[in-house]
Amino acid sequence: MSSIDYSEKIPNNVNLSDDRRLQRALEKWQPAFLNWWGDMGPEASSDHEVYLRTAVDVSPKGWAQFDMVRMPEYRWGIFLADREVDRKINFGIHKGEDVWQEVPGEYRSELRRLIVTQGDTEPASVEQQRLLGLSCPSLYDLRSLFQINVEEGRHLWAMVYLLHAYFGRDGREEAEEMLVRHSGDEDKPRILEAFNVPTEDWLSFFMFTFFQDRDGKFQLSSLAESGFDPLSRTSRFMLTEEAHHMFVGETGVGRVVERSAQLSKQHDTLDIAPYGGIPLPMIQKWMNFHFSICLDLFGQETSTNAANFYSMGLKGRYLETKIDDDHALGNDMFHVPELRGDNVVMAEAPALTAINERLRNDYREDCQRGVDRWNKIIAKAGADYTLTLPHNAFHRNIGTFQGMHFTPQGKPISKEEFDANRANWMPSEADREFVKSLMVRVTERGKMANWVAPPSRGVHGQDVDYEYVKLH
Ligand SMILES: [Fe+2]
Ligand SMILES: [Fe+2]
Repeated sequence: MSSIDYSEKIPNNVNLSDDRRLQRALEKWQPAFLNWWGDMGPEASSDHEVYLRTAVDVSPKGWAQFDMVRMPEYRWGIFLADREVDRKINFGIHKGEDVWQEVPGEYRSELRRLIVTQGDTEPASVEQQRLLGLSCPSLYDLRSLFQINVEEGRHLWAMVYLLHAYFGRDGREEAEEMLVRHSGDEDKPRILEAFNVPTEDWLSFFMFTFFQDRDGKFQLSSLAESGFDPLSRTSRFMLTEEAHHMFVGETGVGRVVERSAQLSKQHDTLDIAPYGGIPLPMIQKWMNFHFSICLDLFGQETSTNAANFYSMGLKGRYLETKIDDDHALGNDMFHVPELRGDNVVMAEAPALTAINERLRNDYREDCQRGVDRWNKIIAKAGADYTLTLPHNAFHRNIGTFQGMHFTPQGKPISKEEFDANRANWMPSEADREFVKSLMVRVTERGKMANWVAPPSRGVHGQDVDYEYVKLH
């Protein structure tokens, strides 16, 4: 097992010191990264000491160590899951061949594009969340935010390592561009639209970490299947970190839902705004927005790019080896939605071109499980409300339903009708202002803002009222 060397300037488990050229190139990129963190990372966090986990090895058990760390002194590094002996390519036209340890020349530009697209989302999310610390609902939550931020920074390192180590000069240029594009920038925005929207309140943050980090889980799971072994190994380790981000999302929304349900029961009304809670129907609107923009992240329902990535062996399906078929998809069909008359119906398309749609379905199912758990919390508190994922056609900006208008239940409607109802279905300016008005900073040990229930337990065996962040 490759343990992580923290005596190096760049902690790593890839024997970086054996490759002086690569080491020097990455050491040149490192100050640019730190400058970016200073400028675009969490606002006013440089004096904080935070109870953070740091990777100490890459084995599933005990990979992390928890310590109080000064934020800018966090040790970002390069950690890949261990190499599997005799790993084979599991799908596409190279199925059965040995995985690649170097970039196959004929797939170079496709691979680079996959890595750049994934890499770009990592610093984007840090930028989107940079002001949130100023309105944290508790020290526990502030720690969660910073933990996620440092790990997204590390995910950028993961992708930049691949670019530097395997793509030469254009890889280094792409790595520089990662710090030049910024979320929401007019001239140089981040690549994917959902990563250009600022995360301005903590309900949005919890929704983001539930829905958007879960998109990350499904993308990384597909990349973990890759025939390019270094990409597979780095994605596998990123997934272990990603699991925590989704935990923050699910429990975060769950705690808001719990508090809202309590207040609804107590005052016998869903309109709990006067009592300083976020009404459940408002939470539904946040969900409609975040879920729909995340569905777009999976791309077109049928896509020749996705088909090519699959056939080439670069990006597989979710849990590829557990699927019972020939993993080449030459003759298989898959259902994709389309609008026929007044109804969304399922049509058949070649499974090979419907790879994105399949992943989107897997994602939706995974989201639904979380929503079911939130609904149980509402029922247990004795409130009467059900949260529902909107239809796949609702509020879409990519694919079949782009430019069309639907209700959250999937009924096609006119643009006029959509516009007239928009504020009933998605956060209005007034809703956003209201939620922001609740975002008062709480930094007293163990105290929670009024709109969110406390977590059921603390971090890594600590109490909920542990001083997770020393503000100084
Ligand atoms: Fe990430
Ligand atoms: Fe994440």
